[in-house]
Amino acid sequence: MSLEEKRVYVTRVIPQPGLDILNTNLKHVSINTADHLLSRKELLENVKGLDGLLPLLTERIDGEVMDTAGPQLKIVANHAVGYDNIDIPAATERGIMVTNTPGVLTHATADFAWTLLFSTARRIAEADVFTRALKYKGWGPMMYLGGDITGRTLGIVGAGRIGAAVALKSRGFDMKILYTDAYQNETLEKELGARKVEFEELLKESDFVSVHVPLLDTTHHLFDETAFKLMKRTAYLVNTSRGPVVKEAALVKALKSGEIAGAGLDVYEEEPKIHPELIKLQNVVLAPHIASATIETRTNMATMAASNLIEGLKGNTPPNLLNPEVLK
Ligand code: GLV
Repeated sequence: MSLEEKRVYVTRVIPQPGLDILNTNLKHVSINTADHLLSRKELLENVKGLDGLLPLLTERIDGEVMDTAGPQLKIVANHAVGYDNIDIPAATERGIMVTNTPGVLTHATADFAWTLLFSTARRIAEADVFTRALKYKGWGPMMYLGGDITGRTLGIVGAGRIGAAVALKSRGFDMKILYTDAYQNETLEKELGARKVEFEELLKESDFVSVHVPLLDTTHHLFDETAFKLMKRTAYLVNTSRGPVVKEAALVKALKSGEIAGAGLDVYEEEPKIHPELIKLQNVVLAPHIASATIETRTNMATMAASNLIEGLKGNTPPNLLNPEVLK
């Protein structure tokens, strides 16, 4: 079958330049134009007969989806850098390529980790609500006291692309950097004097802990009761990685009991559900998984996912192939 005859499904409207790449190359591109999450049933109905699928991180792409699509399914091009929503071994077993969008969202996500860090430490969400409600009746020496940032210790959990970018952006704030990772990060050590430490030491020493690990069996509930007990009572947690890395019930307890000072969250354990107690707490800033949400970054993610998909359908090795063993 020629390239242009191949069938592709996009599970949600993505920035136009990504769709343009698909439409320039293919005749049969269908897109879920409804502005809501695709249900499992809708997903299964729409994947039948596909050659390529372009999903979001919100869709679980497992063996059932792949089998429902059929044996001609060649590539799943995720519109995200994280790919815990895709069963890679199941794809590899079926000879299906899987790709992601690394690199293009590093800075937007790192910038957003800083956004959350600032907003939690300086209580801007609470202060905005207060000011908007016209409750500001004059400057007060005890109003909205937060935590200092400059000169404090920043702990980076996972010093890959995004974690390292967060650390490097601390330069203007003269911070001491600690990090955990399987690998030594020479750039961080040379440029910032960063120190690779054990997880426990990072928790004990850091004033801010920013999480940048992928969701794996080994990182699931990495932040549990024990972790929060080790953190300083004045420390803040920032999570822009994946929700289940943090045990939300334990975080709620830690925030309520003052075991930690606050948290800035972009991701949740059972997205889009949010622990009801989190919503009631003042010492947490909540965002709806928007760390990569800038016009430029989302456009780059869309064009990268679409290009990966087209390369795969052409029979080439897509640039961001996650399971190269599939080609063997
Ligand atoms: C966003 O969470 C992504 O993985 O791209």
